[in-house]
Order: sequence, then C-alpha cells, then structure tokens
Amino acid sequence: MSNDLLRLTQFVSVEQLDAHAVMQLIHRAQAFKAGSPAPELTQPVYCTNLFFENSTRTHTSFEMAERKLGLMVIPFDVQHSSVNKGETLYDTELTLGALGIDLSIVRHSQNDYYDELIHLQPHQTLQMGIINAGDGSGQHPSQSLLDMMTIYEQFGTFTGLKVLIVGDLTNSRVARSNMELLTKLGAQVYFAGPQTWYDETEFSQYGQYVAIDEVIDQIDVLMLLRVQHERHQPGAQSSFDADQYHAQYGLNQARYDRLKEQAIVMHPGPINRGVEWADELVETPKSRYTTQMQNGVYMRMAMLEAVMRGRQLGGLS
Ligand code: CP
Repeated sequence: MSNDLLRLTQFVSVEQLDAHAVMQLIHRAQAFKAGSPAPELTQPVYCTNLFFENSTRTHTSFEMAERKLGLMVIPFDVQHSSVNKGETLYDTELTLGALGIDLSIVRHSQNDYYDELIHLQPHQTLQMGIINAGDGSGQHPSQSLLDMMTIYEQFGTFTGLKVLIVGDLTNSRVARSNMELLTKLGAQVYFAGPQTWYDETEFSQYGQYVAIDEVIDQIDVLMLLRVQHERHQPGAQSSFDADQYHAQYGLNQARYDRLKEQAIVMHPGPINRGVEWADELVETPKSRYTTQMQNGVYMRMAMLEAVMRGRQLGGLS
C-alpha cells in the first residue's frame, strides 16, 4: 500500500505535482477522512508553524493535521520572535533546524519566499522540510488540493468539468494554484470579475474570461474569491463599492437559482459576506464552504505524510 503514496522532500508549489500525484493525495486524504489510521511513527517528528500573515483555517487545520499524525508541534509566535529584531527568514529557519525542528509550515507575504530555503548556496546547511501555507499572491498548494478533493468528492472526475473562478484574480494565490491544477486534471476553467483584477497575459493561458451571467447556468463549480483589500494599492479601498461589486459579480439569489442542479459553490474563506456571497446563501445546499474546511484537515495530513515519507522522518519511508 505504501508504494502508492507520494513522497516529496519539500512541498512548496502545485507546480511540483502531476495529475497522478494529485490523485495520490486525494485518495490518501479520502482514506484519512474515512477513518484510516495515521501511520505509526517510530521516532518523534518535530514541526512548527510560522505564520507571518494572518490565518484561521490554514493555521488551525495544519495544526489539527499535525496532531492527528502524532507530530510534536512546537509553538512559534512570529509577533514575539526575533524576527522583530531583524532576524531573517533563513536565519530563523536555521535556528529552528538547529533546535531539532524537522518540518516547518510557512505562510509569508513575500511571493516565492521558499526559494531561499530550498535552493541553498554551497555554503548553506539548512536541513528542513518546508511546506508552503501560502506565499503572497503566488501559491496556496494546501488550499488548492483541498479544493480538488472537494470537487472530486462531488463529481468523481475532473474531465470536462466547467469551473468558473470569480473575483480578485490578480491578487489570488488560490486562483493561481487552482487554475494550474484544474487544467492539469482536465477541467475547463473560466474567469470572471472586474477587469482590473484580470491579467489577460497570465490568465488566458488557463481559461477564457467571461461574463458571469452568460455562463452561470452552464458551470459545474462556482469558485468565489475573497476581495483582498490588504493587497490592493493604497487608496483603492476608497473607490471600492461593496454593494456594486455584489450586484455585478457576487452570488445573489437570482444567480443561485440559475445554477445547475448538481452545481456546487466554493470559497477559500474568509468570506466578505454580502460582497462575494450573499449572507443567507453561504450555508445553502449547493455550498461546500464548510466541507472545504473539513477536507483541509485530511488533505494537510496527506501532504505532511508525503514530506515525512520523502524525508524518512518518524521511521516512515
Ligand atoms: N483559505 C485560507 O487560506 O484561509 P486562512 O487565511 O484563514 O488560512
């Protein structure tokens, strides 16, 4: 059985995964969800969660996954760390590695922050598994994989599925990771939302830019994105009108009623209720919002296990 399991030494981007690897992770996460026990660890594995950006879902579900796998979770509070005395990310990780940390789960505002941690210079000695919990507007592999698991649970395939991603595309690491995995898996991706948040050069390689009302009755998955005010240019906030956004691009009752019977609605969270998604529609039957969060724990177990096996931690191979 363990021959079918994925092994990675680092897990920083969905670019590392082909369709087979994604399906290995989905099947492993589904097995954990169905009650498969965590693999037995014969030696302790120490991990820490470094969140330089705010998080509720990703941080807590990684910690839940770590505890379900029997890892020793060492608390790390960025606000009270020597990062605030100017210590670099590299030196922080070098320190944690020297203390005995085997795995570091990192969220950081800088795109590709992980490059300096995994592509080492000849004089550098850092030995640690890095798992990316989101880098700026770059990648969000664990969110993307839990999204793929949620879609697969619903449809049992990706081939030919029509997935519409709506909203703040340019600033979204979720959109970037998802458009890449969805196309690798055979789904058809569409984009909608304000044109200022759509970069034709980047996104048109993955899917067509459409008007939400022209396709809403034909899609299988509606993926709403959070409007990420914190990543917008200073001053942009004053010109943003939440009601106008909701009317033009949000999921309201009229659009919900036009969705196909089997269609599902997803959102990575946190939601701006009444902006991307009408408050009263968040917990309706087509919503997979809480399922996504539940699946996140099992998918993160599968991801952590893949790196533990890849690094032969805890006696796993
Ligand atoms: N989806 C997501 O990354 O949520 P958090 O920012 O709460 O982790």
